[in-house]
Parts: sequence; structure tokens; C-alpha cells
Amino acid sequence: MQTAKKKTSKVDPRRARRLRRRNGATMAELADRYELYQMSVQDPEQDVRFLVQAWQEIYGEDDEPHHLREDFCGTALLATHWALRGPDCTADGVDLDPDCLDWGTRHNLSQLGDDQQQIQLHQEDIRVELPRKADVRCAQNFSWQILQDRSELLDYFRSARESLSERGIFVLDMFGGSEAVEEMQEEREVSDDITYIWDQVCFHPVTGHTDCAIHFQFADGSEIENAFTYTWRLYTPPEVRDILQEAGFSEVRFYFETFDDDGDGTGIFEPTETGEACEGWLAYVVAIP
Ligand SMILES: C[S@@+](CC[C@H](N)C(=O)[O-])C[C@H]1O[C@@H](n2cnc3c(N)ncnc32)[C@H](O)[C@@H]1O
Repeated sequence: MQTAKKKTSKVDPRRARRLRRRNGATMAELADRYELYQMSVQDPEQDVRFLVQAWQEIYGEDDEPHHLREDFCGTALLATHWALRGPDCTADGVDLDPDCLDWGTRHNLSQLGDDQQQIQLHQEDIRVELPRKADVRCAQNFSWQILQDRSELLDYFRSARESLSERGIFVLDMFGGSEAVEEMQEEREVSDDITYIWDQVCFHPVTGHTDCAIHFQFADGSEIENAFTYTWRLYTPPEVRDILQEAGFSEVRFYFETFDDDGDGTGIFEPTETGEACEGWLAYVVAIP
């Protein structure tokens, strides 16, 4: 997670005027919000690396997982990178929203050329049963926290366990830390022209309810406010471990991102039984049937 900063405008007014004159339309009007999302918050190579490594730690390095089920798959960028590993790597992607599935088919699955049939996209609720058992089933970018009732999350975890192959794992990601429960914004430059803003709009300590949003600001001064909005319950690691165990998983491992000397995330995740009490942490949770 990035260091928190207050929202400030980085717009150079002369450059903004020049950019507007040149293009006619504003940069916000010309932007594609799915493309912005993918470049700002996703790192599919790292996710795939982690998923394969976590599976091999459990089932051995002589083999590798072949079939992925990506829940809340959005544009199926992760499923695409999974399939790009080789022709015997297949994926099911599940998402309710036909727009992002369509966008993902045109922009991501198309990278697979003739092998697009390696990936099946399903416009369904994540609790849908699919015929193919998964070696790895995952729910990334915290989307599973949309299930705000404990009983709903338990049902989802139970269905995830049932859907795994004999040598399967279920992987979630989580964020937390002292800043995760603050109503605040943090911003990050994703290119010279684009600033990504993560907005923790509200947090209710009693329920864990949080509303979050993603905004984008552009060098010409234009903005996309609320490009994406989320209503979640911010679960804690011990709650998640308890619910996964109640759903029948025999072991639950937490991998926290490590920090470099400047306090920046390294992109390397290591197993831990304690975690670290810091401002912001990111973790993968690996559940073993
Ligand atoms: C934050 S996006 C996640 C995109 C991608 N997985 C990632 O890693 O960034 C959340 C997605 O969850 C989908 N979604 C929300 N509730 C869902 C449900 N009950 N079943 C299936 N998809 C759902 C939304 O349509 C949206 O595309």
C-alpha cells in the first residue's frame, strides 16, 4: 500500500490549456476506465507468480497447477495471464457485470489468439457451481468483502472448498493496518499524465462497513470521479481464518508483503503467523482443503 497523502492538484494550468486545445475533448472524456483500472491497480504477473508458488509449496515443485477459477474476474486480466503460461493452462472467470466481461474478451482474451477457448467467462454470481474443479480458485483485489454478512461469506467459502480439485487451493487477498480504518485519500501517479486516487470515503468501526472509491485526475485538469465504487465490510485476518476453518479448510496461511528500507512494499510476500502492526499492509490468504 502506498503512503497516505492528502488529495492535491498536480495540474500545471498552462500545460492543461495546451492539452485541451490540442485534443478538443478532455483527457477524462477520452480515457477508458477499464484500461485505467488495469494499469493502476492490477499486477497479473505477480499474482500468477504467487498463485503458482503457493500451490507448489503445498503440492511440490515437480508439477504445477493447470486450472484457475477467477471469481470477481472483472476484465479477466489475471485469467488471461494464467492462460498465457501455456496451452494446458485453462481458466474459468466469473463476474456479474456483462460490460467488463465483454471488454475483457475484446482487450485481454484476444491476446490468446486462437487459444481463447482456454478461458470460459461466466456472467454469474460467484457462488455458481461450475463443472470443472479448480486447482487454484481466487478472489483478488478485495472484492470478496462485498459479502458483508458473515453467513454469506461462510456460504461462499464452503462453495469454494467444494469446487477445488484433489490438489487445490483457495486464495484471497486482504488489506489492513491503522490507515485502513481511516477516512482518507491517497494518491499515486500512474504516468506523467494520470493520477490515481484511492478514497476511503467512510468506515464504521462497529460493523466494519466501508465505502471506497477510485477517482482519476489528468494533466489537463479533467477528472473521472467515482470511476469505481465499493461497499465492503473490512474483515480482519483472524475473522477470515475462523470462517475459512468453519467452511472446512484444514489450514489457512497468511503471506504479508515485505517492505524495503524506505518502507515501500517490495512485491514479495512471505508467510507470517503475526503480521506487522503498520500503517498499511497487503496480504494473500491461502486456504488448504
Ligand atoms: C474490484 S472488481 C475486481 C476486478 C479484478 N478481479 C481485480 O483483481 O482487480 C470487482 C468485480 O466484482 C464483480 N462482482 C460484484 N459482486 C459480484 C457477485 N456477487 N458475483 C460475481 N461478480 C461480482 C463486479 O461486477 C466487478 O467486476
